[in-house]
Amino acid sequence: MRHLLGIEGLRRSDIEALLDRAEAHLHGSPDASHVLRGKVVANLFFEDSTRTRTSFEMAAHALGAEVLNWTMAGSSVSKGETLLDTARNIEATGPVALIIRHRSSGAPHLVARHVRCAVVNAGDGTHEHPSQGLLDAFTLRRRWGKLDGRTVLIIGDVLHSRVARSNLHCLTALGAKVVLCGPPTLLPPGLEALGARVTSRLDDVLPEADAVMCLRVQSERQSESFFPSAREFSRLFGLNAARAERLKPEALVLHPGPMNRGVEIAPAVADGPHSVILDQVAHGVAVRRAVLEVVCR
Ligand code: CP
Repeated sequence: MRHLLGIEGLRRSDIEALLDRAEAHLHGSPDASHVLRGKVVANLFFEDSTRTRTSFEMAAHALGAEVLNWTMAGSSVSKGETLLDTARNIEATGPVALIIRHRSSGAPHLVARHVRCAVVNAGDGTHEHPSQGLLDAFTLRRRWGKLDGRTVLIIGDVLHSRVARSNLHCLTALGAKVVLCGPPTLLPPGLEALGARVTSRLDDVLPEADAVMCLRVQSERQSESFFPSAREFSRLFGLNAARAERLKPEALVLHPGPMNRGVEIAPAVADGPHSVILDQVAHGVAVRRAVLEVVCR
């Protein structure tokens, strides 16, 4: 695998090999600290990030690499420098991989066609966030052993969610059933063709779920008159304590972060017994080590 641009199109065996390698890293793979020694990994984040940027940085350090943390603030983007010129100039300094987050869907794909080093998509617009899909699947696999036959309910702002798209591809490839649930205004057409069951009837599907993933309501991508407002969303689709009571006792609750506490998820649920949200973050480092190891090979 030269780049990681998306989960769509990866074979089950590719995904499982990455998750198996992440498992080895979680247990302290004995020979990983020299894998990228003397190499540089460049983080190019054109959008803000807490979890993805820091965990790619930690993953690169754990493999022995130096990390260049480029951010848009303070860069020559303010003078009109393009995405491609920025990426090619950073590449000229010699990194083995560019980790790219951008608000435009397809931005890392464009860069990958014009550079020689590896490119990893760290979230492109509303398209994909492949390392998030992998770490979510990894978190579920560690709890269940395998995903075949399990039902994962993804609730909320599917329309704007690159996390939902990567999870849909990843979870179905691993044999899980994916149910996407949200208000009709936040459910784009064509999801059934990708293998999902789609519904707006949250209370009907909650008891079926082996895991529930709440998506962040991306208010920044909605106008003021958008339906539903955050308050309406919370009432109609928020995972609150009453709804959590209707989950299977062993059901897992995930959220990719950052959370809008009190909107898509209540604090009592985010911090409650079903939650594996901080496990997701911890697993992100091991999964991103596996990704870097594979694309920088
Ligand atoms: N899940 C995720 O992408 O979080 P960050 O925006 O903090 O990287």
